[in-house]
Amino acid sequence: MKRRVFSGARPTGRQHLGNFLGAIQNYVNLQDEYDCVYCIVDVHALTSLEDTGGLQKNINEMVLDWLAAGLDPRKSILFVQSHIPEVMELHTLLSMITPLGWLLRVPTFKEKARLQPENINYGLVGYPVLMTADIVLYKGEFIPVGEDQLPHIELAREIARRFNNLFGYTFPEPEAKLTLFPLILGLDGKEKMSKQVGNDIDISLSDKETTERVMTAVTDPARRYRNDPGHPEICNIYRLQQYFNPFGLDNIGEQCRTAKIGCVDCKMLLAQEINSTLKPFRERRAALAEKPGYLVDVLADGAQRARAIAKETLKEVKQKMGLL
Ligand code: AMP
Ligand code: TRP
Repeated sequence: MKRRVFSGARPTGRQHLGNFLGAIQNYVNLQDEYDCVYCIVDVHALTSLEDTGGLQKNINEMVLDWLAAGLDPRKSILFVQSHIPEVMELHTLLSMITPLGWLLRVPTFKEKARLQPENINYGLVGYPVLMTADIVLYKGEFIPVGEDQLPHIELAREIARRFNNLFGYTFPEPEAKLTLFPLILGLDGKEKMSKQVGNDIDISLSDKETTERVMTAVTDPARRYRNDPGHPEICNIYRLQQYFNPFGLDNIGEQCRTAKIGCVDCKMLLAQEINSTLKPFRERRAALAEKPGYLVDVLADGAQRARAIAKETLKEVKQKMGLL
């Protein structure tokens, strides 16, 4: 039997290069070797109430990106978290064995509390418990995520281990699977690329929009004039060239160091490479967007397949915890 991969992502709408390089690449690549389950975690999105009115639209935009990027619903289960309410039951049960101290120490909790000081809700503290429930409900063994999720996966391992110690072996301890690009910086060259910060480049932009976005990127700050030699090793644009333009990389690095190429030319090259790499993706996305009924069917079928697994696990957990 194939081993299980599970991952989830918040419905943030159109996906950006960080999601694409840090997570989606692995979602797609793991599909043949593993039994993959991918979830759009709409309940997690409610921990930071920004725009619940846009939630359904964001789910659709994200599924379009995932499918166009190569997620294949014939191979993988693709579903929306809230369609399987069992996860919320499991979340409550796991919350009983999770020490509060573990949760208050999680760096992403501290970061969220900083970003939304007016809304530090109970669900926000429990975010990693719900995430653990997602993973263990499907007995996920390998979890493709970006580097920012490592503290959450570590906690999921600890909760799974604690459950196993208390009630007998039930859950595999999940292991993160990173891509070669686990942390993509945003256009500011400082913070991780994210929607919330607004430093992102969406993969579904047009060629022109992509070029315009790339042009706003911060490069090597020491390179103030065109003739100043650059330091590609600290430049975010150069880092992105590693993925989009691997064969031109040595040449660009050399030309940057010797000031033969300027930052504008370098960005232009990158934008061209991004656009040509993403061309087939964008064409598939446009075709899929014409078939909204297909998306509904994919998610309904995914929910049905996910529910069968979820029911089994929840029954086992309840029996072990003495509830049945
Ligand atoms: P999010 O959109 O924050 O819910 O993230 C969805 C997935 O993309 C998670 O696995 C993240 O770790 C990954 N991800 C998000 N932003 C980045 C980034 N800037 N670099 C690498 N991976 C990322
Ligand atoms: N916390 C993840 C993020 O912000 C989303 C997520 C929820 C997740 N449940 C998961 C990721 C289970 C992997 C496995 O991107």
